[in-house]
Amino acid sequence: MTDLSTIYKICLVAITCFLHACSSSSSSCPELECWFVQEKVGRGGGLTPATTQEKSLLYIGTDTNGRGAASRQTPSDIHPDKVYFVTDPAATLCHRSLSRPRGSVKKPQCEISPFLHAPSSLRWVAPLTDSGLSPVYLQADWFSAALQGFNKQLVISSVMRAPTATKEPNVILSVTSKTVSVQARLGKPVLLDCGFWLDPSSPLSRSGFAVEWRYQFRGKGHLVLAYDGKTDRVADSQEEGAALDYEALHKKGNASLTLQEARVRHSGMYICTVYLPYLLAQVALELEIVEPPSLSIQPSPLPLAVPGQTLIVQCDASGFAPLSLELSWEFKGADGKSRPLGAGSVTGHRQALDGTYSQSTRLELDTSKVDLGTGGELTCVAVHPGGTRRASTPLSVIGFSSPSVEDSMAMVGVALVLYGLIKLVSWTCFSSDVAEKHEKKEN
Ligand SMILES: *[C@@H]1O[C@H](CO)[C@@H](O)[C@H](O)[C@H]1NC(C)=O
Repeated sequence: MTDLSTIYKICLVAITCFLHACSSSSSSCPELECWFVQEKVGRGGGLTPATTQEKSLLYIGTDTNGRGAASRQTPSDIHPDKVYFVTDPAATLCHRSLSRPRGSVKKPQCEISPFLHAPSSLRWVAPLTDSGLSPVYLQADWFSAALQGFNKQLVISSVMRAPTATKEPNVILSVTSKTVSVQARLGKPVLLDCGFWLDPSSPLSRSGFAVEWRYQFRGKGHLVLAYDGKTDRVADSQEEGAALDYEALHKKGNASLTLQEARVRHSGMYICTVYLPYLLAQVALELEIVEPPSLSIQPSPLPLAVPGQTLIVQCDASGFAPLSLELSWEFKGADGKSRPLGAGSVTGHRQALDGTYSQSTRLELDTSKVDLGTGGELTCVAVHPGGTRRASTPLSVIGFSSPSVEDSMAMVGVALVLYGLIKLVSWTCFSSDVAEKHEKKEN
């Protein structure tokens, strides 16, 4: 009887623990320390910064019940006015990369600022607000937050709405990317991740959305693709081979861009923007096309090296990007040991039509100064962000020593074989000649 009640108790404890674990994991959204960035009011110009920064704290919950405002202890260095209780039903802001790992000095980055809603005049966004009447719903406090998780695992941009002066914003639109910095090989397909969530209960999500991808590099930029979700049409596309998956876009909020074939000119910044009427959120991604070089050594094969002579060898590296290459030479002797021979004289770079680079290095190998022994292997080494490449060629030194016994035996052997061959050939020809003459006579 006591046994049964013990088991019962243990079960009860286990269940309680389990429930507790569940509830605590569902509310495991981090508290986010953010910089509250605001434009300075009435700034006098000159050298004063245009914005002010203040520490702020964001408590995140996935529903409004989770707001345990009273039970929290706000750090003393944060003004109570800059503490917000954010509701994020999609739990985008609860990503694990946003919690600060124990003992880590680095923090996830977070910035929040007031957001100014406005209708957009862009051709693919304007239809969203074509009624021209701004809804009462917009009369509230709007914020935008930009976050970056640890190790660039994730970037998030969210737009939030708080009923005026409540400090309790709700996330209305979130745009995320898990590919903050992408490297791709030349000619391969590229996926630039972008996903979004919009609050289905918001009146703004009823009129549809628009998606835009822009490219930017060194101050210049262009539109890659613009999609008008209201009319379900691609409004503009200026990059061949760039595509969205329209089904995934509508069903899952997957706005990822694929580039069919990576080219060098694709390297740069990509900005994914999602528009709702009067609102927008955007994330930026970096794409770098990284292709290691192909190497070739000239002349190939190398001429036999005569001791005392200077041997000139060239190594050509081509088809690489970006322009960051270190060329050098190595010699590996018969003893298996590698010796560095330096960089040689490296030429300037050239750029091919496809944007890839080429560069060469010329080695003047003074055989009287470098101990090459009986020869070995000469290697050209190219260190590139895309990987290290090597090209090798055998290097033989003649007149280094008199032929060994084995060499002499081999020479005799070769001579004998040659002699035999000549004999055989001449005998065959001669005998067939005789046979032919015989035949002719008989005819
Ligand atoms: C989004 O779509 C792309 C294809 O366009 C796919 O490769 C990717 O896995 C999708 N992402 C998610 C999170 O479903």
